[in-house]
Amino acid sequence: MSKPKVLATRPLFPAARAILDENFEMDYWTPPERISRAELLQRVADKDALVCLLTEKVDKELLAAAPKLRIAATVSVGYDNIDVPACTSHKVVATHTPGVLDDTTADFAWALLMAIGRRLLEGDAWIRSGTWPGWDLDQLLAGDVWGKTLGILGFGRIGRGVARRALGFNMRVLYSDAVRAPTNVEENLHAEHVDRDKLFRESDFITIHVPLLPETRHLISKENLEKMKRTAYLINTSRGPVVDEAALAEALENGTIAGAALDVFELEPKVHPGLVARKDVILTPHIASASVDTRTKMAVMAANNLVALFEGKRPPNALNADALELK
Ligand SMILES: NC(=O)c1ccc[n+]([C@@H]2O[C@H](COP(=O)([O-])OP(=O)(O)OC[C@H]3O[C@@H](n4cnc5c(N)ncnc54)[C@H](O)[C@@H]3O)[C@@H](O)[C@H]2O)c1
Repeated sequence: MSKPKVLATRPLFPAARAILDENFEMDYWTPPERISRAELLQRVADKDALVCLLTEKVDKELLAAAPKLRIAATVSVGYDNIDVPACTSHKVVATHTPGVLDDTTADFAWALLMAIGRRLLEGDAWIRSGTWPGWDLDQLLAGDVWGKTLGILGFGRIGRGVARRALGFNMRVLYSDAVRAPTNVEENLHAEHVDRDKLFRESDFITIHVPLLPETRHLISKENLEKMKRTAYLINTSRGPVVDEAALAEALENGTIAGAALDVFELEPKVHPGLVARKDVILTPHIASASVDTRTKMAVMAANNLVALFEGKRPPNALNADALELK
């Protein structure tokens, strides 16, 4: 019997390839540059399954171009690249990779928080410039991190991981979320549920962990930035469009907030020019989940979702299993 045909828009990692190669007839996109839209539409046309990244849109056009497609598995927990209702109406299962990247991403959010709060990159740049004259009492003074108030927007898997790390820094933790966490979670993490307004007004560090949805697009707006303390920092490891970058650049220019550390951007790979030249901004290239182990686990998870479907089982990380009435 012939094996199902699968397009993977990256060579992935050996552990995931081993699973895919054993079960499917594979077509991997291997050139160093990302697959173009035209190439993607052409290659997916005769495929039964797609393993894609957050940079590829699975939308009505792609679904129409791939009449045999049964599953689209994105190697990411965020799935704003997938039109899930459109997948459902085409009877395509959409899957993502929740859970395996929580601690790695929370670590990175924390790295950004510490780096911006304690002026790490300014210190590094000063030494490399050859102009550091040696220690002095008042160089690169910053605020403290320990004991301050941390505001977490989106208290899901990753947001809670960030809160867990804050316990070691003796911080006051506020969170806001569309759904309130169970009491035992709040107690264990010493986290207080507050409305968004209070979080914006009282936090010294605000870290974003909501998914990108119509309701969260530009959640960090001019209006909300103006509620923040002038000494506060913004950290974003969620999705770029959650922050209005132009409003953020203006807020930094006006001294409305003290700084920002960003791993994700509105129009990746572009970054708003008003952010690039600033010393009070740290920019990283969407690497919050980028550890070898975690990225491997994500790819393996995507591969296992495909295997489950073609074995007649419910893919464990299906986003529309109920809508498709999968057993
Ligand atoms: N930078 C990176 O590399 C990277 C890595 C991992 C995840 N992410 C992003 O982080 C996001 C969060 O991941 P997660 O696994 O913690 O997701 P999650 O689903 O566990 O948590 C998201 C939380 O946001 C809340 N939420 C949803 N809509 C909301 C709204 N309108 N207002 C307030 N709260 C709302 C949900 O109730 C949930 O508690 C992902 O969607 C992804 O976009 C980025």
